[in-house]
Amino acid sequence: MNKKSLSLMSAITIGVLLFFASCGGGAPKEDNSKKSEAVEEATETTTEEATETAADVDDKYAAGKKIYDTKCVVCHQADAKGLPGAFPPLAQSDYLLKDPKRGIHQTLNGSHEEMVVNGQTYNAPMTPQVDTKEEALAVINYVINNFGNSWGELTMDDIKDIKIEPRDQ
Ligand code: HEC
Repeated sequence: MNKKSLSLMSAITIGVLLFFASCGGGAPKEDNSKKSEAVEEATETTTEEATETAADVDDKYAAGKKIYDTKCVVCHQADAKGLPGAFPPLAQSDYLLKDPKRGIHQTLNGSHEEMVVNGQTYNAPMTPQVDTKEEALAVINYVINNFGNSWGELTMDDIKDIKIEPRDQ
């Protein structure tokens, strides 16, 4: 250990001691225990919320997750980070999060345009992926609220003017 880190260590030790000393004096004991109870409660709530959120997403968007896991995962990958140069990411995609309604259109009707996603250019075509607006809405809402995304939700009303284009079979 060098001199610098030694003096840092002692500074920390002094700081900690001062902290305890200041807690001990002044305020009545009862108050202190109440305070720590409150802190404990707050910590518990935070941890609970965190675990609930992760499970909630899968539960809340179960239909969308199912579509993702059967259809999109092949190209956009399990972590939704895509394959650089071939398949664009959906996780924290600046392109998708800027306009998720366009994402609904692309999921329904496919996409054949050059696009820049998170600074990288893609232009391989994507064929139509789902047949109904309900499916498109389910999977896009799942994607934009998962994989580190938290966009909020699109509703059926938001996408009412999107048309399903005729497909050549
Ligand atoms: C066969 C591979 C493949 C599959 C399967 C696939 N995609 Fe794509 N996806 C692509 C490619 C390639 C692009 C780029 C299209 C372009 O350049 O026009 C793309 C682009 C996108 C984009 C816009 C770009 C971005 O990254 O934000 C969205 C949104 C999207 N896909 C959603 C989906 C969803 C949702 C599914 C599943 C229902 C899906 N894709 C399934 C290959 C695929």
